[in-house]
Amino acid sequence: MAMKILGISGSLRKDSWNSALLRTAGGMLAGAGHELVIAGIGDLPLINTDLEREGRFPAPVERLRAEILAADALVFATPEYNASIPAPLKNAIDWASRPNNTLGGKPAMIMGASPGVLGTARAQYPLRQTLGVLSVQLMGQPEVFIAAAAQKFANGELADAATRDFVAAALVSFAGFAARVKLGE
Ligand SMILES: Cc1cc2nc3c(=O)[nH]c(=O)nc-3n(C[C@H](O)[C@H](O)[C@H](O)COP(=O)(O)O)c2cc1C
Repeated sequence: MAMKILGISGSLRKDSWNSALLRTAGGMLAGAGHELVIAGIGDLPLINTDLEREGRFPAPVERLRAEILAADALVFATPEYNASIPAPLKNAIDWASRPNNTLGGKPAMIMGASPGVLGTARAQYPLRQTLGVLSVQLMGQPEVFIAAAAQKFANGELADAATRDFVAAALVSFAGFAARVKLGE
């Protein structure tokens, strides 16, 4: 089943490893016939329900919500900020969750890259908690924690061969998982 996948990076940095990871994932998924488009979340206002008018949200929020609704599946790639979810990503999720929650039922996987040894584990677990509450259908395994990222990325892509193989295998698992969720199996 060819899928339309929305990638959401937790980093707004131009040279972000996590955005690079999504670009790499997009290339790998394209090889299997899937399309991955990366969402922009840098122009979302900070969550404030005063900005909601008669069920309408600010334009960048409406755009993100429509992209999520149109996607068959979601791939999150996030850094860890102070041992938790980066604020831009939590902000995007909070907007996406406003009634009606656009994230509910979507198959999703989480990846992350950080310079330290934990590979964003302390961001991924609170992210799992939040997405779980929103009824996102998260793939449990494999988990993708990319540690020592400074040695693994080059020229805006994931370069380390062993890590590329691991990510490619995780994406194959995810494509199968997402298809099963879509088919209600
Ligand atoms: C506010 C802030 C907090 C951070 N906290 C952590 C942290 O808790 N753990 C960690 O591994 N890296 C932390 N970092 C470093 C990030 O992992 C690093 O900036 C990384 O490059 C971010 O991912 P990106 O390349 O996708 O932007 C922090 C960075 C910032 C800006």
